[in-house]
Amino acid sequence: MTALLTIKDLKVYYPIKTGILNRTTDHIKAVDGVDLVIEAGKTYGIIGESGSGKSTIGKTIVGLEQATSGEIIYEGVNILHKKAKKRFEYNKDVQMIFQDSLSSLNPKKRIKDIISEPLKNFEKLKGEELQARVREIIKIVGLDEDSLYKYPHQFSGGQRQRIDIARAVATRPKLIIADEPVSALDLSVQAQVLNYLKRIQKKYGIAYLFISHDLGVVYHMCDTLAIMHRGRFVEVGGRKDIYQDPRHIYTKRLLAAIPQTTIADREINKQRRQKLEQEFLAQKIQGYDESGKPYPLQRISETHLVALRKGERSNVEDDH
Ligand SMILES: Nc1ncnc2c1ncn2[C@@H]1O[C@H](COP(=O)(O)OP(=O)(O)O)[C@@H](O)[C@H]1O
Ligand SMILES: [Mg+2]
Repeated sequence: MTALLTIKDLKVYYPIKTGILNRTTDHIKAVDGVDLVIEAGKTYGIIGESGSGKSTIGKTIVGLEQATSGEIIYEGVNILHKKAKKRFEYNKDVQMIFQDSLSSLNPKKRIKDIISEPLKNFEKLKGEELQARVREIIKIVGLDEDSLYKYPHQFSGGQRQRIDIARAVATRPKLIIADEPVSALDLSVQAQVLNYLKRIQKKYGIAYLFISHDLGVVYHMCDTLAIMHRGRFVEVGGRKDIYQDPRHIYTKRLLAAIPQTTIADREINKQRRQKLEQEFLAQKIQGYDESGKPYPLQRISETHLVALRKGERSNVEDDH
């Protein structure tokens, strides 16, 4: 087990400014005390509903948002303390893919130039060497060389996500933050894009931080899953812990939201969902303090952590 990236007690607060003096009157605690370890070559999933703080974690890792406090340690060094120019290697090693490639890919550039850019910047490639790498990269995501001369809008959503993956993979990074990379795609296309991500991971040993609002989509992707709510992790575990032995009410709700394929399952699931919803709304629930903030995580097995009040036991009898 090699830790590639470690986050310790990360907090990211956005100021709320009001009045004509534009003074900071309060903060949105988008990320409020998160710890995680991403291992080399593995996939760490962060799952939670919209607004829970997932993207803020991803953006803070790549430097698009500023941490309020905490540490982000990459290969033994806290990158939050590194001077911008010393982050060259880090910026090459850690790439990000977004949900909406139509806005993240420059619409005025041909695919060839989009993929060339990081190679020129980070590896100083040029001429035939650069061309050869670009041709090799576009093939990795199953597109032909003709695609290189087209513009982003000439592709379907799924193809465009694959192009964005190609751009991210170009510099052979060690970690890719994939923020809802398939959420805008049809189900059939989602599976295809996920397969490319898996294949690329295997071939190059890349680690992923995979962000999604949907526990159904990430089942085959993640080695470790963190369930996020209100800026904090409410449950962390392996695939088995989360899907077969969920303990936090919020994890159970996310599981119940996965669409069922048979009619019988749908009916059972509907009843389960209604019961969970009542429990949740009645606040007869474990896992949150009086102010609605999730409790700190407690370890319940070697791989499984749950947000519980101190001294409280997770409910062992299971309705899943
Ligand atoms: N730049 C920003 N300024 C102020 N508030 C923000 C900003 N970005 C996100 N937020 C707020 O932070 C919270 C977490 O947002 P985000 O990380 O985008 O969540 P998620 O990706 O889980 O949907 C939300 O309440 C959101 O409105
Ligand atoms: Mg988001």
